[in-house]
Order: sequence, then C-alpha cells, then structure tokens
Amino acid sequence: MLCTVFLPPKWSLGYQQCRWSYDSDKRVQEVTRTFREKKIPCDVVWMDIDYMDGFRCFTFDKDRFQDPKSLVKDLHQNGFQAIWMLDPGIKVEDGYFVYDSGSKTDVWISRADGKPFVGEVWPGPCVFPDFTQAKVRSWWSNLVKDFICNGVDGIWNDMNEPAVFKVVTKTMPESNIHKGDDELGGCQNHSHYHNVYGLLMARSTYEGMKLGNAKKRPFVLTRAGFIGSQRYAATWTGDNLSTWEHLHMSIPMVLQLGLSGQPMSGPDIGGFAGNATPELFGRWVGIGSLFPFCRGHSEKDTADHEPWSFGEECEEVCPLALRRRYRLIPHLYTLFYMAHTMGTPVASPTFFPDPKDTSLRKLKTSFLLGPILVYASTAVGRGMDALQCTLPKGIWMSFDFDDSHPDLPALYLQGGAIIPVGPPHQHVGESNILDDLTLLVALNEHGKAEGVLYEDDGDGYEFLEGGFLLTHYVAELQSSTLTLKIAKTEGSWKRPNRRLHVQLLLGGGAMVDIWGKDGEILQLSMPSEQEVSQLVSTSEKQYRTRLENAKRISAVEVSSAQKGIELSRW
Ligand code: NOJ
Repeated sequence: MLCTVFLPPKWSLGYQQCRWSYDSDKRVQEVTRTFREKKIPCDVVWMDIDYMDGFRCFTFDKDRFQDPKSLVKDLHQNGFQAIWMLDPGIKVEDGYFVYDSGSKTDVWISRADGKPFVGEVWPGPCVFPDFTQAKVRSWWSNLVKDFICNGVDGIWNDMNEPAVFKVVTKTMPESNIHKGDDELGGCQNHSHYHNVYGLLMARSTYEGMKLGNAKKRPFVLTRAGFIGSQRYAATWTGDNLSTWEHLHMSIPMVLQLGLSGQPMSGPDIGGFAGNATPELFGRWVGIGSLFPFCRGHSEKDTADHEPWSFGEECEEVCPLALRRRYRLIPHLYTLFYMAHTMGTPVASPTFFPDPKDTSLRKLKTSFLLGPILVYASTAVGRGMDALQCTLPKGIWMSFDFDDSHPDLPALYLQGGAIIPVGPPHQHVGESNILDDLTLLVALNEHGKAEGVLYEDDGDGYEFLEGGFLLTHYVAELQSSTLTLKIAKTEGSWKRPNRRLHVQLLLGGGAMVDIWGKDGEILQLSMPSEQEVSQLVSTSEKQYRTRLENAKRISAVEVSSAQKGIELSRW
C-alpha cells in the first residue's frame, strides 16, 4: 500500500482564493470574475462555513447559495473549481437529516457514561462522528458522496482536532469513548485516538469523494492530521497572523511538514488574523506562490486580502508572482508525481544538496523545489535588492522570467539540472499537451545536465494503467555544441507534436536558446567565452535596472509590536 501523498489533481497546483467567507453566490462570482478581468491566474475559490444553512454540514443557505449546482457550472466555465467546508461538529437538532441518520446509525462519540457527547461549535450544541469505526466512516462517506453532486470539486475539513468551544482544553474530554475497530485499537477513550481523529475524518471524506466520482481525484484539505494523512489530504499551517514573523515562520513550517511526509502544505498567504500591509502582502504572495499548496485566506472582519486589494504596487507584484507559479506548474506537477511514487518532499531544505555544510542548516528564508533554489527575504523594508544570497557549494545559475522584483524571491537552478516550464496560463485548465515546452538547462562542471517531465490527464486514474508520459531529458556540452535529447521515456502516451524551447543558463540570468521539436535531438552552438561574458554582464545590468524600476511597495508604518519582532530576529 502506498503511504505517500495522493497524486493531486493538477488544478490544485494553481493559485487558490479563500476568505472567511465569500458568503453569497454573488460575491463568489464577483471575486472570480475580477481574477479573469485583471488577468491574475487562479484555479480555485473556497467556500468557508457561511455557505451553510445555520452551520449545518451538508446544507446550503437557501437565500445566499440558492443554486450551488448552477453556480459551480458557471465557475467551471470560467476555469474555477469550487471547494466547500465540512466540519465534524454536527448540530444537535431533531429533523436535521444528518443528525437524525447519525443517531439512527449510532455514529456519535460518547461520554464515559455511554450517552452521546455534546460540545459547542459553530451551530451551538454538536455531536461528533466517531471516525475510528469503519461503519461511521462509511456513513460519512455516503453523505459526502451525495453532497458532491451539488458541484463540489474539493472538501475542506476544518475544526477536526476536534475543536470544541467554551472548554479550557479546546477539545473533547479525554474520557470520551470511541468504539474503534479492532485493527485501529478497539474501544478506547479519546486520549487514545485524539491525534488520529483528523486523519480518519480526512480519510472518510476522501473515500466519500471517490465514491461520488471514481473518475476524479479527490481533493481534501484537513486542519488536523497525523503521519499518514498525506494519503488523503493536503494541509495548511492553520490560523496564522498577518505579521512578518508569521511570514518568516511559514517557510520552516512547510519544510518540516515535507520532511514529515506531508508534501502538500502552505500557509494562509497574507496571514489569517489581522490586516497585512501592502509590503507584507506582496512579499507573502511572492514567497507563497512557490509553496506546494498556494492559497490566500483571511479571517472574518479583516480587510479584503485578494491580490488586488492593496493598491497599485501590489497589483504589480502579485500577478508577477502568480504567473511565475503557473510557468513552473509542469515542474511542480513532476515533483508531485515523484512525491507520490517515491515519498520525496516537494519543498525541501537548502541543506539537501550538501548535508555536510552545517551553515546551510541555519538558512530559514530559502528552500528547494527539486533543483530550484528559492531565496527570499522576510525582513520588513528589505527586499531582494538588499540581500546577499548564501548558496550551497557548486554551480547555481540564477534565472527569472523577466520578472525579477525586490519583493519576489530570487531563483537559482542547480548545475546539472533541467526543468520543464510552461506558458503563464490563467488557470490549469487552459494548458494543453500541445503547448510549447520550455526546458531550462544548467550544466554541471562536466558540462552535463538531466531532468524529468511528468505528464498525464491531470485528473483521474488512467495514469495507473500507464496513461502518462515520463520523459528523461539529458543535455551534454561537447566541443562547443550542446546536444539535448531524450534518454528514456516511460508510459503509454504518444509524444505530442509540440515545439521545444531550450534555454541554456549562462550565469547572471543570461541564457542562449534554441527552438526545435520535442522528441528530436537539438543542437545548440555555444557562444565564445567573450560573447558569454558580454551576455552575462548585459543580463546583470538588466536585472539591476528591473529591480530599480520595479514599483516599490512603499515602506509603511510598522506597528511597534512588529518592530519588536523584527529587532529580536535580525
Ligand atoms: C478555523 C480555520 O482555521 C479557518 O481557516 C476558518 O476560516 C475558520 N475556522 C472558519 O471556518
């Protein structure tokens, strides 16, 4: 049995826009339309708890979300997927179909005296499904199965620690009873199962989505998890604050989750609680757009936090950041395929290429996406133009997409690597197998490089029957000619008839390129040493000019609390 991450549907690698809450179909349409009007890429819109009828799971508010099916039909036409929240707390209310059927099937966690445990969450008094029993998971899965007919592309499991209000522990009593199946540990009190409750809920939700549509890959996001929850769900780093410190912490948090077996994670971009400043927001989108899971979210009663909500300067940097992500989606999807098949993290720490160099272990503002090194600044008032990057030993070629900006991380490709890059689509559904394919090449000290591209339908399970194309590209420099060819392919897909653009990085962001046809051997004549140094110095000059001309997000008044955080950190 595979214990690695589920292979995510490709659309879930796009940018995702959330808010507590987009609380009516009109607001959802307005937000998604604005993305398209402003040409800011986005794939997913999220519905937080307020879509429900009085916080009753598996229901929709009749006035504000009159016809979810037709809303989602419109969203799909516009290239958006819709993700809806489901919490474990089920309102105690006779006549509410989930409560009635759960009580009839005897699914609730009980108190030590055997009566159903009732704890307060959003709808008031709630009971909680005992996901440690297969019977209960199947009851929940069947509810999910029916629910997804309303146009549900993904499900967000929140509050599943499980969270309980108005008690000191913020969760249920340890003495509560779960009638767990023998294979999980049998009948035990809550302290035995607390840590796996969220995992089992996510599992049951995932299984329900599969039951509803066996041809689509489920997408579930879970707040609580344990070792193994990566098989069923992505996760996020929970309720963070809109502060520089929490931006800074989001990098090690994502890396730690990756090292713990959960490669699909990211923070609430912009920060959940409080209001980001334009500078903080731009920087967070810059960094967050390179995390495996990329979602903006903010709390009720905060100011708007969409990519256009912070004025002109942010409207320059946010689309740049997100277009960059979309260019890298072929590479990110390949990393996810590797994570799925081999268990490797998608984002990994900077010391990975050189574990012996202990100084790399102290770096907290950089990380790797395979052979790409992402180097960011999380310091207020100090963008990339003011930063000296510490790189691991060896060759690291800087590159960008003509998009360098003081508020975007710097990117480097490790010598010896080839990565696939696609066009900057508005959403993943726009991509086509016939799209031009770009390969970025950085040679190692022996003049060689290699890299992989994984392609499939982006959803469904045909890849399990061989319906995919895995291409191993190799490049080698011999007597001033670079030859790029395919070393090996796997999968039953035929190679598409598409153009191939090879860009060889020379250093300082400079490159030489050649166009050809994918599948054919491409040969590129290297410029002379003198020409190379000319290209490098021109490119470095252009880089500096780009940084100087970028619309700087004005230095803003920082609260004294934030100043304190900054002073203590730097
Ligand atoms: C808590 C979650 O962490 C947050 O992301 C969500 O917006 C609220 N619950 C409301 O559902």
